Amino acid sequence: MDRVVAAVVALVVVVCLRLPAVAHGQLQVGFYNTSCPNAESLVQQAVASAFANDSGIAAGLIRLHFHDCFVRGCDASVLLVSANGTAERDAPPNKPSLRGFEVIDAAKAAVEKSCARTVSCADIVAFAARDSINLTGQASYQVPSGRRDGNVSLDQDARDNLPPPTFTAQQLVDRFANKTLTAEEMVILSGAHTVGRSFCSSFLPRIWNNTTSIVDTGLSPAYATLLQTLCPSTPNANTTTAIDPSTPAVLDNNYYKLLSLNLGLFFSDNQLRTNATLNTSVNSFSANETLWKEKFVAAMVKMGNIEVLTGTQGQIRLNCSVVNNGSTSVAAPGIEMAHLYPGSTASIDNIATT
Ligand code: HEM
Ligand SMILES: *[C@@H]1O[C@H](CO)[C@@H](O)[C@H](O)[C@H]1NC(C)=O
Ligand SMILES: *[C@@H]1O[C@H](CO)[C@@H](O)[C@H](O)[C@H]1NC(C)=O
Ligand SMILES: *[C@@H]1O[C@H](CO)[C@@H](O)[C@H](O)[C@H]1NC(C)=O
Ligand SMILES: *[C@@H]1O[C@H](CO)[C@@H](O)[C@H](O)[C@H]1NC(C)=O
Ligand SMILES: *[C@@H]1O[C@H](CO)[C@@H](O)[C@H](O)[C@H]1NC(C)=O
Ligand SMILES: *[C@@H]1O[C@H](CO)[C@@H](O)[C@H](O)[C@H]1NC(C)=O
Ligand SMILES: *[C@@H]1O[C@H](CO)[C@@H](O)[C@H](O)[C@H]1NC(C)=O
Ligand SMILES: *[C@@H]1O[C@H](CO)[C@@H](O)[C@H](O)[C@H]1NC(C)=O
Ligand SMILES: *[C@@H]1O[C@H](CO)[C@@H](O)[C@H](O)[C@H]1NC(C)=O
Ligand SMILES: *[C@@H]1O[C@H](CO)[C@@H](O)[C@H](O)[C@H]1NC(C)=O
Ligand SMILES: *[C@@H]1O[C@H](CO)[C@@H](O)[C@H](O)[C@H]1NC(C)=O
Ligand SMILES: *[C@@H]1O[C@H](CO)[C@@H](O)[C@H](O)[C@H]1NC(C)=O
Repeated sequence: MDRVVAAVVALVVVVCLRLPAVAHGQLQVGFYNTSCPNAESLVQQAVASAFANDSGIAAGLIRLHFHDCFVRGCDASVLLVSANGTAERDAPPNKPSLRGFEVIDAAKAAVEKSCARTVSCADIVAFAARDSINLTGQASYQVPSGRRDGNVSLDQDARDNLPPPTFTAQQLVDRFANKTLTAEEMVILSGAHTVGRSFCSSFLPRIWNNTTSIVDTGLSPAYATLLQTLCPSTPNANTTTAIDPSTPAVLDNNYYKLLSLNLGLFFSDNQLRTNATLNTSVNSFSANETLWKEKFVAAMVKMGNIEVLTGTQGQIRLNCSVVNNGSTSVAAPGIEMAHLYPGSTASIDNIATT
């Protein structure tokens, strides 16, 4: 009896020592070390190749990770396509502006060829954002992985969770707090607007109406005139402009410097200067690019943890835009197995049909 008890105690101790991360559903740097050792380099190659063709793709991939994580957590729900056009990617915050889907598909194809049914689309999105930051900003960081893919994608969730460019400082702070991010992290992550582009619609009311309930004095009149020329009140639906026109493809701290010159493109960007606390952060990042980059990569890692699925939750999608056939995943024992053999999945999923 004592020996049985001792054996049980020993087993419990061993299990507890070996499985702390899974018990808490945590992500791990190098999750695919043994199950798919070249996963991260294959993603990196796909991103580098797309970037060589179009450097703007890096901005798209950074934003893709943000828009994934803020809606149902970082579960690649943003990639799902719905037959009737009611998925996250069809919602106004994502359509037509979100880009980089085909880069994720190319990375997924390369990874599947090397190690089938092992690497989640959600992790590929997180790796691709990191690689895009490396390419545009010479900043590097390790991405904890082990995310699993979700099977639900609703346009209403994107409308409800993604902050619009008309938000006030308080609304921005509240929205990020809801996703476990602090007011300072909101300012830090907004610095991603140092790269990329915007369609006219995101700042049109700002340049033509200027009648928001809060008087908007944060846009330089000369810049507003320039933007009016580019974007008439009924603009061409395809016209875009750089968010940071000084260095649109470089991840630097110019975003914060432009805010101080009333050259922030969105109403929401300028809001960071209207609150003394947020403004203090803006000023320190404007003065110290190294400081901002250090905090930016840390905040990206934190953002990558929002409401993640781990263990046997969700699934490893085979095609990033389609939920696996017959894939009702059930929480069950086997979490331990998934941990001891990271990346191993019960091979019960049918091949996706499209
Ligand atoms: C603070 C709240 C935020 C608001 C209100 C906001 C709003 C927007 C808007 C309106 C656009 C332009 C969309 C269009 O083309 O019309 C945009 C672009 C972009 N956003 Fe944000 N954003 C926010 C936070 C973030 C965060 C946290 C990140 C990433 C960490 C991010 C990364 C980007 C990037 C990289 C682009 C350029 C995308 C491209 O060139 O394809 N944004 N954002
Ligand atoms: C994967 O390998 C790297 C580099 O040796 C190490 O830092 C990391 O902790 C490993 N991760 C796992 C989950 O084994
Ligand atoms: C290259 O980039 C353009 C957009 O700038 C895109 O239309 C095209 O599909 C890309 N080609 C490849 C091979 O990625
Ligand atoms: C769209 O399709 C989904 C299933 O893919 C369904 O749940 C939803 O009700 C449909 N929406 C509309 C508006 O038809
Ligand atoms: C960018 O990524 C490459 C490959 O992982 C790495 O060797 C390099 O150090 C990174 N660049 C920076 C500046 O961290
Ligand atoms: C975020 O908002 C949702 C819906 O309003 C709420 O259910 C949830 O508890 C909030 N989460 C946090 C961390 O504030
Ligand atoms: C200006 O505001 C009016 C009323 O809110 C709105 O109907 C119109 O579309 C706005 N025009 C532009 C160019 O934003
Ligand atoms: C908007 O209105 C305010 C107050 O009248 C004014 O100070 C500001 O210059 C205007 N902005 C633009 C872009 O016209
Ligand atoms: C926008 O671009 C698409 C694709 O290139 C084209 O078919 C469409 O005519 C363009 N729309 C306008 C208003 O120029
Ligand atoms: C600035 O924002 C912080 C965080 O939301 C808030 O606590 C503070 O009251 C705001 N300050 C002002 C002057 O609005
Ligand atoms: C923001 O900082 C700038 C630069 O120090 C300063 O001129 C401005 O008054 C500050 N605004 C607020 C609201 O604190
Ligand atoms: C800028 O920030 C870095 C990183 O926190 C720090 O080491 C450095 O001392 C700061 N530089 C200045 C001039 O404050
Ligand atoms: C999606 O996953 C949840 C649990 O992860 C499951 O309850 C549900 O049946 C799944 N739906 C589909 C369409 O696979």
